[in-house]
Amino acid sequence: MDRKKVTVRTLQKKKDAGEKITMLTAYDTPTGRFIDEAGIDIILVGDSVGNNVLGYENTLPVTMEEMIHHTKAVRRGVTYAFLVGDMPFMSYQVSVEQGVANAGRFIKEAGCDCIKLEGGLDVLPVVKAIIAAGIPVMGHLGLTPQSVQKFGGYVVQGKTAESAADILAGARALQDAGCCSVLLEAIPRQLGAYITEQLHVPVVGIGAGPDTDAQVLVTPDLLGTFEGFKPKFAKRYLNLASLVREALDTYRTEVITGVFPADEHCFEMPDDEVEKLKDMDGAPTEG
Ligand code: KIV
Repeated sequence: MDRKKVTVRTLQKKKDAGEKITMLTAYDTPTGRFIDEAGIDIILVGDSVGNNVLGYENTLPVTMEEMIHHTKAVRRGVTYAFLVGDMPFMSYQVSVEQGVANAGRFIKEAGCDCIKLEGGLDVLPVVKAIIAAGIPVMGHLGLTPQSVQKFGGYVVQGKTAESAADILAGARALQDAGCCSVLLEAIPRQLGAYITEQLHVPVVGIGAGPDTDAQVLVTPDLLGTFEGFKPKFAKRYLNLASLVREALDTYRTEVITGVFPADEHCFEMPDDEVEKLKDMDGAPTEG
């Protein structure tokens, strides 16, 4: 198959043609490569690196330096997928200037095609300034994890008509500001379907039902490596954690019992060289 690099135009064409778009997160080179080889359209280096890889309790402590470091690693494994860098908490909230400068780092230093940030009407000035700088932006509404403390936990958003209308207004405003896509997290499926119908840009869903243009999952949830907690919307396609544990246990047992390393894992020295070494070692030293 003649594969082409996925761009904003590819994604828009898929929405216009009613074709589903696929998206996953990655935080390192091999995972980025696996996902790219699988033909996934969009790879997000999410700030979910915080709780999935870096051992933080949530995404709030993640820094720009950590995001750039992980995004560069993913970039090295990706050829075709549309690469999105996630702006971490407080990298775009302090000032519009700082937000634009940090968005620019994802493009210049980490080779991203787009950045993602959380919020609606509240972040419009920085969204507009980033887009004016020529950087594609994916919005993120609904359950925005950087506001976990404001929400008082990871709570489904938009369950009443009033709160759903706020999310819809935010989505329209982001689209009007020039966002190339809007991601909706943990909202009722009816709202996911309605916003997808109303917007002309691709809508990505995670826990937003089956009718959004794209679906995204956090890859450790899909592979079963993150055991912290499993959100209702996540589907585990593999239990990698138990396979890893089994492999580590077998390795430990084989080292202890002498099964590993076996002959096939060893390098050989010719017998005459072994004898020579012993003679040399046994020979009296000079002086
Ligand atoms: O950081 C992340 O993984 C996200 C998910 C919603 C995809 O933003």
